[in-house]
Amino acid sequence: MQILKNHNLKPYTSFGVDAYAAQFVIVTTLTELKSALKIPAPQRLILGGGSNLLFCDDFAGLVIRICLTGITVNESADDVVSLHVAAGENWHEFVQWTLAQGYDGLENLALIPGVVGAAPVQNIGAYGVELKDFCDYVDVLDTETLTIRRYTPAECQFDYRDSIFKGELKDIAVITAVGFKLSKPWIAKINYGPLANLGNDASALTIFKQVCLTRQQKLPDPNKLGNAGSFFKNPIINKAQFDVIADKHPTMPHYPAGDKIKLAAGWLIDQCNLKGYQQGGAQVHTEQALVIVNTGTATAHDIIMLAQHIHTTVLTRFAVALQHEVRFIGRDGETDLAEVCRG
Ligand code: EPU
Repeated sequence: MQILKNHNLKPYTSFGVDAYAAQFVIVTTLTELKSALKIPAPQRLILGGGSNLLFCDDFAGLVIRICLTGITVNESADDVVSLHVAAGENWHEFVQWTLAQGYDGLENLALIPGVVGAAPVQNIGAYGVELKDFCDYVDVLDTETLTIRRYTPAECQFDYRDSIFKGELKDIAVITAVGFKLSKPWIAKINYGPLANLGNDASALTIFKQVCLTRQQKLPDPNKLGNAGSFFKNPIINKAQFDVIADKHPTMPHYPAGDKIKLAAGWLIDQCNLKGYQQGGAQVHTEQALVIVNTGTATAHDIIMLAQHIHTTVLTRFAVALQHEVRFIGRDGETDLAEVCRG
């Protein structure tokens, strides 16, 4: 395990902007991870696929990139397959692999960038399915005691793009593996818009292909156009606030969220005519307004300025304060749009 000094993180993040880490290591085993956690540093950051992060500045501490690999299968029960998957496995390749083995269930989550260990952090979700629907457990290394503890799904406190790993366990725990339970017989989930035409006899592979096609049409490929997927979360508002907006915009897409209502941030941004709007090298994606892309020359500052413009414009027009889904990392650790703009 080599400690690299003043290392450019650009190749390790899907936004592809320059940002230097004071120290950087790649770990491929649990033993290496434990050694890395003993390296003295003012702060550290655990990096998976780097597909949901924006480095707003150079990082003054140690970045540990998790490359733990391996999948173990347990088919002991007739009606369920249990999988134990190391945190560094690529998410989409894992989904593809499950389908090739005949383990159906994860097809709606195809083509989501990133690694398996990052999936529980924001409870990744797409096309009517969330990670929590299949999660059996999450194995976590305590950064102080260097012991592993297994968290049940209830303990993970999964919610829309949220979990305990973004809250209480942030910075003090490293996800090392995720357990999945895939049930047989499998039930197709085709309620979500672009899947609704597939018909009830659609196979998991058909759904997988349709999800890939839909994502490829709407979402930019991070290998060609830097981005971090949805930049903002879909806002969840109360009924009174919803009624005021819906009164003026009766066709506005919305979804139930408990006793509240979830709006489509992409629609709100689109209504402000921001598709294609550019700030330096950062641009609101022309096909899906919820995504900010790096046209090739974007700096973190360009992306931050564009995000701030989107936030202000939507707030002024709809009185809805968007929250970013992409995590902002500053010199000394996690930060947010408001703090970065203040500083
Ligand atoms: N819409 C517009 N204009 C746009 C974008 C969207 O009018 O530019 C409208 C659409 O027509 C639709 C609604 O907004 O009526 C919702 O759009 P879409 O189905 O594309 O999904 P989304 O809410 O924008 C969410 C997730 C995506 C996920 C899709 C599909 C969040 C923050 N985003 O996007 O997740 O792939 O649903 O399930 O929840 C990600 O997290 O990075 C991500 C891509």
